[in-house]
Amino acid sequence: MERRFRLLEARKYLLERKIERQIRLLEQKRDGIGKKIEEQIRNFERKRGSRKKAIPLDDEVRFIRSWIERPLTIGAVTPSSKILARTMARYVDPNSDGPVVELGPGTGPVTEALMEAGIAPSRLVLVEFNPAFCRILRSRYPEATLVEGDAYSLRRLLEALLLQPAAAVVSGLPLVTKPIRQRLRLIRDALDLMVPGAPFVQFTYSVAAPLPRRLGNFSVESSERIWMNIPPARVWVYRKTDAR
Ligand SMILES: C[S@@+](CC[C@H](N)C(=O)[O-])C[C@H]1O[C@@H](n2cnc3c(N)ncnc32)[C@H](O)[C@@H]1O
Repeated sequence: MERRFRLLEARKYLLERKIERQIRLLEQKRDGIGKKIEEQIRNFERKRGSRKKAIPLDDEVRFIRSWIERPLTIGAVTPSSKILARTMARYVDPNSDGPVVELGPGTGPVTEALMEAGIAPSRLVLVEFNPAFCRILRSRYPEATLVEGDAYSLRRLLEALLLQPAAAVVSGLPLVTKPIRQRLRLIRDALDLMVPGAPFVQFTYSVAAPLPRRLGNFSVESSERIWMNIPPARVWVYRKTDAR
């Protein structure tokens, strides 16, 4: 029995080492690809810079850079398309009262769509934790309230800041990279910060809902699949169904 146990332990040890080696190889590959892209971006910037004054990087490049550094927290290689951003914004009633909270605005495609849909920038509360994106958001949307912090601590971040219940929470967070319990806490906290019946709007690239309806006192609806986005996405809307 003891011999068998030792044998199993040895096998487990070898397997763990093998997995670690494979992870290291994958990380090296990813870093190699990242460095190549970075080099190409620099070459491109140098060429443009020698002809003109330095040009601002466009949002795609900033996004790719951030994704290379932290793929799981950025959750996408490019910003959302206009169609996806507009679909999300359509779920927010421009005639509603109160702040509109956006989680993970990135470089601002959904922020832009919300404003286009008639939400005044002064109503927007943007929660973003990537400092480079925060700098862009601050300069593009000076009238909006920017909260530089972790959206998964929503209650702590916003409870004192919101002077009235929010009219909507619109999220671009890569929610499905988080465990179910954390997703559930975020959606519950968001619903608690809003007026009854207000929407929590989330996009995902997955076919399944980020949180099944049976897990809480909320309804779930979804948009059609939006093919004009990389990758194709779907918008999910959660609303509180009764008081808890
Ligand atoms: C998939 S990108 C979406 C960006 C933008 N909304 C769009 O549609 O292009 C996810 C965004 O969420 C931000 N993010 C990820 N985790 C976050 C967190 N815990 N708190 C705040 N922002 C977060 C990332 O920095 C990134 O800007």
